[in-house]
Amino acid sequence: MKILMVCLGNICRSPLAEGILKHKVQQLGLPWTVDSAGTGHWHTGELPDRRSIAVARRYGIDLTDQRARQFRPDDFERFDRILVMDTQNCRDVLRLAQSDEHRAKVGLILDLTHPGEERSVPDPYYDDDGFEQVFQMLDTACEVMVSVTG
Ligand code: 4NP
Repeated sequence: MKILMVCLGNICRSPLAEGILKHKVQQLGLPWTVDSAGTGHWHTGELPDRRSIAVARRYGIDLTDQRARQFRPDDFERFDRILVMDTQNCRDVLRLAQSDEHRAKVGLILDLTHPGEERSVPDPYYDDDGFEQVFQMLDTACEVMVSVTG
């Protein structure tokens, strides 16, 4: 199983999702690949946001080996599942898809916990207090991911 987490900047939400899922995968000894990317290019090469690093650290997860990169069309070939954080990310990724096979790989991460509700993970970039809530949402979704597919 190869999973790519996608948000807008690849500095707040998707690095957290990557770190949380990697942590669970490692604990369970699953042979999965987990990565993350952003639909935008502005933060390429940067560390995750310090607030994402801090909340992850409180739960024993280290994000400091991650560097932001932009989503690219060959990610459709390299990954089995592309989990997007919000509906705008979903539209942006689907615009780059070239086939139904590629489109079928894309889904909202919160569909794992709230199927069919089209829920988005709120962007915490302008909200210092939002990171804990985002962590909890992503942790629950990643728990479903490993229990359903693992
Ligand atoms: P992310 O959050 O998509 O969760 O990484 C954002 C990070 C940066 C910006 C927007 C959202 N930005 O506008 O620079």
